[in-house]
Amino acid sequence: MKNKKIGLCITGSYCTFAKLLPHLKTLADGGNELYPVFSFAVADTDTRFYLAADFRKDIVAICGREPVTTIAGAEPFGPANPMDIMMIAPCTGNTLAKLNHAITDTPVLMAAKAHLRNGKPLLIAVSTNDGLSNNAKNLGELLHKKNIYFVPFSQDNYIDKTNSLVAHYELLEEAADAALQHRQLQPVIKERL
Ligand SMILES: Cc1cc2nc3c(=O)[nH]c(=O)nc-3n(C[C@H](O)[C@H](O)[C@H](O)COP(=O)(O)O)c2cc1C
Repeated sequence: MKNKKIGLCITGSYCTFAKLLPHLKTLADGGNELYPVFSFAVADTDTRFYLAADFRKDIVAICGREPVTTIAGAEPFGPANPMDIMMIAPCTGNTLAKLNHAITDTPVLMAAKAHLRNGKPLLIAVSTNDGLSNNAKNLGELLHKKNIYFVPFSQDNYIDKTNSLVAHYELLEEAADAALQHRQLQPVIKERL
């Protein structure tokens, strides 16, 4: 993928951040423009995986711009500043459930809503411990919604975390290329990581 405008929405699956960053760098190095958007949980929360300020610095270093951290700041992703593609990577169970129910109370959900208004593809990289339990219904509904595509995912640990699903980040760019052609990269359910 080259020379595309990519909305990059990041939600609070903190353990995934380190895995995500090299793939973002690959996209940036390919001449794509990355427009980062943080959920409130990402903008504000220090965890054992990352301090919020450090993560912000790493994202600015890769994307070359500050993240959007307000709902008002995300609204222009509609007709005012359209993206070729919007990604939610990683996408928490929380954001997955809200997206499926048309709830728009974070910058990420506002960016996704504004972008879908333009009829452009939205790519989701799921990362949640309830993907096969309380959130399975939301995943199932989003899988067949117009203009929504998924980075192929797996159960990451079916013994200790039986309901957990995690996207294959090494397929992020390939899945985005397919989504730009309004095609779901297959197989969407991959073998275990
Ligand atoms: C250390 C830590 C790790 C978390 N990891 C995940 C995760 O991998 N997947 C997930 O769905 N939620 C995870 N959560 C919970 C979300 O951060 C929480 O539901 C938050 O409200 C998500 O908001 P957002 O979807 O707007 O980013 C984690 C929370 C903490 C504190």
